[in-house]
Amino acid sequence: MPFMRIDKLISQWGFGSRKEVKTILKQGAVTVDGHVVTRPETRIDPEVSVIYVGDELIEYEKYVYIMMNKPDGVISATYDEEDNTVIDLLEDKYQWMSLFPVGRLDKDTTGLIILTNDGGFAHRALSPKKHVEKVYVAQLDKEIGEKEIGVFAAGVMLDDGYRCMSAVLEGLTDNYAKITIKEGKFHQVKRMFAAVGIDVLALKRIAFAGIDLDEGMATGEYRRLNENEMNIVANLLSKD
Ligand code: URA
Repeated sequence: MPFMRIDKLISQWGFGSRKEVKTILKQGAVTVDGHVVTRPETRIDPEVSVIYVGDELIEYEKYVYIMMNKPDGVISATYDEEDNTVIDLLEDKYQWMSLFPVGRLDKDTTGLIILTNDGGFAHRALSPKKHVEKVYVAQLDKEIGEKEIGVFAAGVMLDDGYRCMSAVLEGLTDNYAKITIKEGKFHQVKRMFAAVGIDVLALKRIAFAGIDLDEGMATGEYRRLNENEMNIVANLLSKD
């Protein structure tokens, strides 16, 4: 983390606009390593300095992990010329944190996407060698049967000749199906169903790397990962 201006940092931590923070600084309410800092342009390293605003200790977090229920029509990227991205949906305080989505969902796919600034986590979660599980619910144009379940278990051959790893397919009611895959090829789920002559009408991811989508969250909502979910992240990070 490079040195940052104290007024920018404090503002980003939610203490008001840069102008409001200037007033707070002038009042002598901010200390850095025990010394009162009044100049807004003072540069500090939040990773090593102990910063108080009044009697509130500012707890600096190097990495942030957010779960979002991605809405239809939003791009899983950090920037797009035309459409809203998952990052655009975040409130201001997250905009400076260099967050990015871990992997991609199609524009019309909804459900669980993790946003973080932890490149190490993203690397491990997306590594083809790690076989991290992704679970989707698909609305299909027809019902699946034992034949499709068998083909998915054996490994579907995609349109480009790639043979997928074994996947678990489970029929739900009303032409819905649950599918668990351990890889992440481009449009993989839609292409797997296309290979057996089935169209995916809607796709939602309900789990990623052992983290379940919080079904209490409406599409477009997001929240920090909770303690249990952070343990899953830590576990993944601890593996080589
Ligand atoms: N497979 C797809 O086809 N689309 C997604 O968004 C994710 C997996």
